[in-house]
Amino acid sequence: MTDIRMQQNKQSDPAKAPDFTGSLVPARPFWQQLKMLTNPPLFFEKLIARYGDYVRYRGVVNFHLVNHPALVGRVLRETHRNFDKATPIYHRFRNAFGDGLVTVEGERWKKRRKLIQPVFKGSAIEDFFSLMRDAAHSAVDAWPTNTVFNIADEMDHLALTVAGRSFFGRAFDDSSEDIRRWTDVINRYCALPPLSIISNPKVPTPMNLKLRGVLGEYDQFLGRLIRERTEGFANDDLLGILLDTMDEETGEGLDPKDLAEEVLGMLIAGHETTGKALTWIWYELNRHPEVEKALREEIETVTGGGPLKVEHLKELRKITMVIEETLRLHPPAWFENRNTLEEVELGGEVLPKGTMVVFSRYSLQRHPDFWMDPEMFKPERFDPEDAENAGNRHASVPFGGGPRVCIGRHFAMMEIKVVVATVLRHFQVVVDSSDQHEMCARMTMAPRYGLRVHLTRREQKQQADPGLS
Ligand code: HEM
Repeated sequence: MTDIRMQQNKQSDPAKAPDFTGSLVPARPFWQQLKMLTNPPLFFEKLIARYGDYVRYRGVVNFHLVNHPALVGRVLRETHRNFDKATPIYHRFRNAFGDGLVTVEGERWKKRRKLIQPVFKGSAIEDFFSLMRDAAHSAVDAWPTNTVFNIADEMDHLALTVAGRSFFGRAFDDSSEDIRRWTDVINRYCALPPLSIISNPKVPTPMNLKLRGVLGEYDQFLGRLIRERTEGFANDDLLGILLDTMDEETGEGLDPKDLAEEVLGMLIAGHETTGKALTWIWYELNRHPEVEKALREEIETVTGGGPLKVEHLKELRKITMVIEETLRLHPPAWFENRNTLEEVELGGEVLPKGTMVVFSRYSLQRHPDFWMDPEMFKPERFDPEDAENAGNRHASVPFGGGPRVCIGRHFAMMEIKVVVATVLRHFQVVVDSSDQHEMCARMTMAPRYGLRVHLTRREQKQQADPGLS
């Protein structure tokens, strides 16, 4: 196996932050800066291509753009205490889902993370395997085979079903239409351009009024569920688990307001990202039938043609590699941003307090200095047995890194594996010739028009036995 995973650029040591002088980009005419809003990943890509891996941008918004794994590593890990999330984008998220783990800061974040971390550790989330498998099954059973349909919508729908049932148990199904409507409004609000005038929730724009309305409905829904749970209807869904979670040292748990914000934040952070990751997997597998074939073979070898079980998941190594490579090329959470809390040294430059530092996972994870053929889909880059190429952990960070790494990453990886294995066993997914592919990046990165596919049901012996799949 060769050197696909890490790029071999002799001048670049991926672990060492090079001394950058930074390039100061003069303010562009306003209309040119609008490009940032219409296609932000390409806007950042052009800045990097023209000015390098460390760009000081001055314009309608001022920021430092970093595009080197070592610099990203400093922001996320080594000097993470010098940064917070006081940025327009995170303010927008705070307006939408309050102070959950995604947005909370400092000591409050530390306490909260310590409290919630055990709920999402690998072994704990295995309890959600059956729920994921059942949801995937019900979805594929209902899919049509003689028509073109948009699998991107289906993946979003399925990811919300999995997240909703995991958090609320059966109460999700009773209120699923409402929950879909609420999350849709919140997602659309979060995806607006981060201009303070329209994101200020006090300004009565139609979107802000809708947001206020759905947050009110959500509060009532969650208030009722929490009352039911505290009055004795114990439940082992994530809401029930979080309700019972206490800090071992202090005995403190989450109060109802914290809990409501936490659950809403996780629902939003967890479902759209997972839905988009799944959509991109179908997009890539369709372009690489040999990889798809290898996945089918792996599934059949690992399960022996029987039902998928939780213990099979770690053996589905090729699926894991496909997920990692898809997340490298198409990171759903494509953009990251932080604010300096105090003066901090970054790449040989001292950034003053209040500097916004940003990076684009889309560019970082396609950086030609760190990936051979960066635009190509090559899952073998992530072969764990290829020690020679195991390398820079900051060159692909679809779930972030350092202390604020995604708390739901094991949950997401398990869900994606279950869905991919279930769909591949039942269907051949073929992208339809009418599909118009165009990438679109707002809060998440997705194909702009979804992904139009048609399905061919696979003839399998387990079709006769509903328990076998
Ligand atoms: C493919 C799916 C997912 C992707 C790509 C993703 C990506 C990310 C990224 C990049 C971050 C770090 C942001 C930062 O640096 O501040 C993050 C944080 C977070 N994610 Fe995910 N995520 C996914 C699924 C999930 C799921 C399923 C959940 C919950 C069930 C979740 C809950 C969270 C939370 C609570 C945080 C904040 C953690 C903290 O700051 O302590 N995510 N996610």
